[in-house]
Amino acid sequence: MDSHHSQGVVILDFGSQYTSLIARRIREQNIFSEILPSHTNTDTIRKLNPKALILSGGPSSVYSKSAPKYDESIFRLDIPILGICYGLHLLVQHYGGKIETSSIREYGFDKIKINKKSDLFDAIPSSTKVWMSHADKVSVLPKNWEITAESSNGIVASLENKSEKRYATQFHPEVDHTEKGKEIILNFLFKIAKCNPTWTAENFISEKIAKIRQIVGKSGKVLTAVSGGVDSSVVAALLNKAIGDRAISVIIDHGLMRKNEAHDCVKSLKEHLGLDIQLFDESEVFLERLKGVKNPEKKRKIIGEQFIRSFEKIAKIFGHIDYLAQGTLYTDVIESGGSGSIKTVQVIKSHHNVGGLPKNMELKLIEPLKELFKDEVRKIGMELGLSDKLLKRHPFPGPGLAVRILGSITPERIKMLQEADEIFISILQEKGIYDDIWQAFSVLIPVKTVGVMGDNRTYENLIALRAVTSLDGMTADWYRIPDKILSKISNKIVNSVGGINRVVYDVTSKPPGTIEWE
Ligand code: XMP
Repeated sequence: MDSHHSQGVVILDFGSQYTSLIARRIREQNIFSEILPSHTNTDTIRKLNPKALILSGGPSSVYSKSAPKYDESIFRLDIPILGICYGLHLLVQHYGGKIETSSIREYGFDKIKINKKSDLFDAIPSSTKVWMSHADKVSVLPKNWEITAESSNGIVASLENKSEKRYATQFHPEVDHTEKGKEIILNFLFKIAKCNPTWTAENFISEKIAKIRQIVGKSGKVLTAVSGGVDSSVVAALLNKAIGDRAISVIIDHGLMRKNEAHDCVKSLKEHLGLDIQLFDESEVFLERLKGVKNPEKKRKIIGEQFIRSFEKIAKIFGHIDYLAQGTLYTDVIESGGSGSIKTVQVIKSHHNVGGLPKNMELKLIEPLKELFKDEVRKIGMELGLSDKLLKRHPFPGPGLAVRILGSITPERIKMLQEADEIFISILQEKGIYDDIWQAFSVLIPVKTVGVMGDNRTYENLIALRAVTSLDGMTADWYRIPDKILSKISNKIVNSVGGINRVVYDVTSKPPGTIEWE
C-alpha cells in the first residue's frame, strides 16, 4: 500500500458532477485524495488508513429506491467525515434526523449565515457567498447535532456533531463559486482531520521508484510505450530512474501521428532525456485493420488491441520482457468507466490505454501515473528534468488522428488532416498563443460543401478547428482565438491544403461537449 494514502482523504462518489473537483482541491494542498465508488467496502477504506472521509454530492434523493448503495459501517470509522450536499443528507439520515423535499429549491449562489462557532468555518466571515444545488433539505436535526450555518431561506446550510467528528455542508465548498470554499476545505483538512501535506512531486517520485523496483524485481525487464507526449515521457523517465537500462523505451508509429511527429519525438527524447529510444513503424498493420471502420468506439478498440499486439511482437526482439509501462492518467480511468476500485461513472469513451485493452495480454501492465491529473504529471515531469517544450506540449490522444478523422480512415484523409493541423498549430505558436491553450487540433469531418475558388465551383472537405482551455481535461472552455489569427489560419488551410475548401471553429465547452470529437 502506498504511504500517501495514509496521510490522505478518501472520497466516496455518490455521482456528483463535482466529485473530481473535491479530489483536486485536496491534492492542491499536497494531500493525497482518492475517489472510490459509493459502495466501497469499509474494510477496503480501513486498509488505506486515510485521515478523513468525504461523502460527495449526488443527483439522487436518499429515500429513492435508486439511491446509490453504500456500506453502512462507514459511519463506524473513527475518522472525521465530511458530507457535502447528498453526503449531508446521508449523514443526517444515518444519525436519526430527517430529510425531505423542500418547497424551495436552492440552485446557484446563496449567502449563508454562519451562526455557531465551528472549526469548519474558522476565520470565515459570518456571511459568505456559496454555491448551492439541491432540492432536499434537513427537516429534523439528528440528536446531538448543531446547526452551524443557514441559507438565506433559513434552510440548514451546515451542521455538525463535533465530538463524533461528523461535519456536513449543504453547499459545495469544492466549487470555485463558493467564495471561501478553499478555506473551508483547508479547515477540514488541517484543523479537523490533521492531514499532513506529504503529497509532493519529490515524494511521489521516490515512492514510485521504490514501488517499480519492488514489482519488477532484480532481473525483470519493462517495455515503455512512449507516444512523445508528456505522460509517457514521464513514465519513461521514471522507469529509467528506477531500473536503468532494464527499461526499454519504444515508440510505435501507428501512422496516425501528427506530421513528422514520430521522428521529432525520438529526437527530442534522445536529446533531453538521454533515453535510448527506438521507433517502430507499424502503420501498415494499423491502417489495414482500420480500413473501412467508421464507428469511433470500434476504432479505439482496434487501436488499443493492435498496440498491445505490436508491443508483444516488439518485446520479443529484446529477449524476455515481463511488463509494459504506459502513461495512463486518472482522467483516462474515470472516463473509461473506471478500473479496479473505480467503477462508478458511465463510460464516456474507451481511452485506448484503459478500456481498449485486450483481455488476454502476455505483458503485465505498469501504470505509475494512474492516480494523477495532467497538471500533476507536468509537475512530476518538471521535477524529473523534462524539457519545457516537452512539458508544455498539448495532450495528444493515444489513438491519434483516428479519433479526429470522422468516418473512414484513408492515407489521403490522414495526410489532409496532418497538413491542416500543422498550419493551425504553427500559426498558434508563431502568434505566441500556443502556451495559453490547453489543447488545439483539427478535425476532418465527413461532409463536403460547395465553395468557389477562382472562377470554379469546388465541392470539397470541411475541417473543424478546436482550441480549449482546461486544467485537467475534465472540463474545458473554448479558447477565444483573435479573429485576425483565425482568419489567417483559415485562409492558409484552404489555400494550401488540397481537398479542403471550408474551415469552421468549434465554440462548445466541456460539458456538454467533449474535447475530442469522437
Ligand atoms: P475528451 O475528448 O474525453 O478528452 O474530452 C479529454 C482528454 O483526453 C484525451 N483523450 C485521450 N487520450 N487516449 C488518450 O490517451 C484516448 O483514447 C483519448 N481520448 C481522449 C483528449 O485528447 C483530451 O486531452
